[in-house]
Amino acid sequence: MSLTTEINAPLKNIPVDIVSPGDYQRLFKNFVRPDVFEYIEGGVADDITLNNNRQAFDDIKLLPKALCNFENASTQCSLLGHSLKFPMLLAPVAYQKLVHPEGELATIDAANVMDVGMIASTLASTSLDEMAYHLQTSKWFQLYFQDSKENTLSLVKRAEQAGYTSLVVTIDAPINGLRNRAQRAGFQLPDDVYPVNLSNFTPVSAKTINPEQSVILNGIMRDAPTWDDIAWLQQQTQLPIILKGITNPNDALKAKNMGLAGVVVSNHGGRTLDGLPATIEMLPLIRERVGKDFILILDSGIRRGSDIFKAIALGADTVLIGRPQLHGLAVAGALGVAHMLRLFIEEFEITMALMGCSTIDEITADCIYKK
Ligand code: FNR
Repeated sequence: MSLTTEINAPLKNIPVDIVSPGDYQRLFKNFVRPDVFEYIEGGVADDITLNNNRQAFDDIKLLPKALCNFENASTQCSLLGHSLKFPMLLAPVAYQKLVHPEGELATIDAANVMDVGMIASTLASTSLDEMAYHLQTSKWFQLYFQDSKENTLSLVKRAEQAGYTSLVVTIDAPINGLRNRAQRAGFQLPDDVYPVNLSNFTPVSAKTINPEQSVILNGIMRDAPTWDDIAWLQQQTQLPIILKGITNPNDALKAKNMGLAGVVVSNHGGRTLDGLPATIEMLPLIRERVGKDFILILDSGIRRGSDIFKAIALGADTVLIGRPQLHGLAVAGALGVAHMLRLFIEEFEITMALMGCSTIDEITADCIYKK
């Protein structure tokens, strides 16, 4: 890490040249430490999946319908019985105090002002109770299974008591992927940023493995959740459960057949296994496999309002916005996140207008040009 790099303080006003979510991404590196930049912007290994996520969106071509009527136009949609003003939510993103001293609470202020829901991360740097207290929009909690059922259950019960209405269980990161960019930059969490929701847990005594066994496959992966653990979780809570991190159509069907509420088609923004397909490539196959009434949420690579449109056309009910929330937060705090969301909404509405779609239901597969 270069100690001479200057880090700008968050802006108090939005410069006139920030006109798209990508402009926040362009400025982001000036507002965070170089190692933090690599940790957040990096994918894994060679960034192949990270880059695929973007390329796949760019390769999709739209086919508009002319001269449509917009008398009753709306971006309203519903999800799990809640009405959403726009088909997007903020993805669970850990340790937001890394990029701004107010962290998650600034993001929540922006979510409230823009009426966009948020999924609070298990690994947040703000307590799940405090986040729930401040959130006035859709309140969902993202759950990582812990190393004991007792600790997992205690998170679920705290989330229920705090008033979260859905559990998003992330299943694609039982172990960190090869975060080579963060490793090369020497990334470490500073002492004052840590997963506060886990701080009261008594550490489970280390399980022993034989000398000939693998620390990864026989050690860490022994605690990784399985389908049986998901079935166990269903017995423990009345909250709807959504699995996050599905890319295989067979897994999506399995989730549906178990009675789960939905899945997030996600490759964790290219942060788990390099070589996974872009989520937008898998989405139509997954939709075909699960049928039309099962909730599919998509994330990974959404950087324009037109990407939200493409995701809905190819079968998503709604999308999650990941890194752009950290870009907005670092550059201009709550104001930056709110403005970033405003830009997504405007771009999405302009796309609907120019595509001849006046409601979310009108955004269908025939909006996509196929050769
Ligand atoms: C994440 N993501 C994530 N996912 C999750 O389920 N729990 C978490 O705590 C985190 N933390 C996290 C931190 C950082 C720095 C990043 C970049 C991502 C993944 C996130 O929810 C989402 O799936 C991706 O960010 C979506 O991809 P884009 O929008 O960043 O391309």
